[in-house]
Amino acid sequence: MKAGSYNLELKEKVGLAAANLVQNGMTVGIGTGSTVEFFIRELGRRVKGEDLNIKGITTSHQSKILCYHLGIPVLDVGMTDQVDLAVDGADEIDHSLNAIKGGGAAHTIEKIVAAMAQQFILIGDESKLVDHLGLKFPIPIEVIPEAMSLVLRRTKAIGADPRIRMAVKKDGPVISDNGNFIIDLYFKQPQTLPQINNLLLSIPGVIETGLFIGMASKAFIAGAESIKILTTNKEGGNQAWEM
Ligand code: A5P
Repeated sequence: MKAGSYNLELKEKVGLAAANLVQNGMTVGIGTGSTVEFFIRELGRRVKGEDLNIKGITTSHQSKILCYHLGIPVLDVGMTDQVDLAVDGADEIDHSLNAIKGGGAAHTIEKIVAAMAQQFILIGDESKLVDHLGLKFPIPIEVIPEAMSLVLRRTKAIGADPRIRMAVKKDGPVISDNGNFIIDLYFKQPQTLPQINNLLLSIPGVIETGLFIGMASKAFIAGAESIKILTTNKEGGNQAWEM
């Protein structure tokens, strides 16, 4: 499901840049994935080397385990509702900073943490930036196992090609950190995002979609030469500058 480890250098660059936004005393939402791994490693370095005093709110077992090894203090997600800054990767980001997430099956908790955050920042290498979400990368949904056949039937009826995500080093399906299936929805046509999101959420047993609509205030996109910072403004337009 993941795109592999290409562009690791760009992921490292953008992960480090995002870690520099973190300030003493912050509660930090910590996403999941290979880009965020660089963010976490730099936070770990700052916690040890600069006495940075932060609390992390992790979005997956993957991130929690890494924080544990690096000595980053972690709070229970369910016991917190205030996050100063959340940083997360994405599978696709469009120019309005909507995103598809869930390539690592962590999108449900990622969305909860993003929703708590005063500021939610997406980070990625330039391959993540697309004109239309969901044409190259499927939209993942997290589904209670008992709802599998209902969800397959209903998603086919709305024009998707639904595929249960299968595990690589385990027989059978991927099981999310929450104990559920992930169904990847392939569409041939661009979808109207809020509409498809609401339709999917209306199917009993669908816990969450990987569509993050209007949640991010900035996206840091690393290219070979520089990092572009894309931002949305209140009028609905967006701006870009480079660092
Ligand atoms: C986890 O479920 C995802 O939402 C990841 O944040 C997303 O897949 C980005 O992953 P990479 O940083 O590994 O590309």
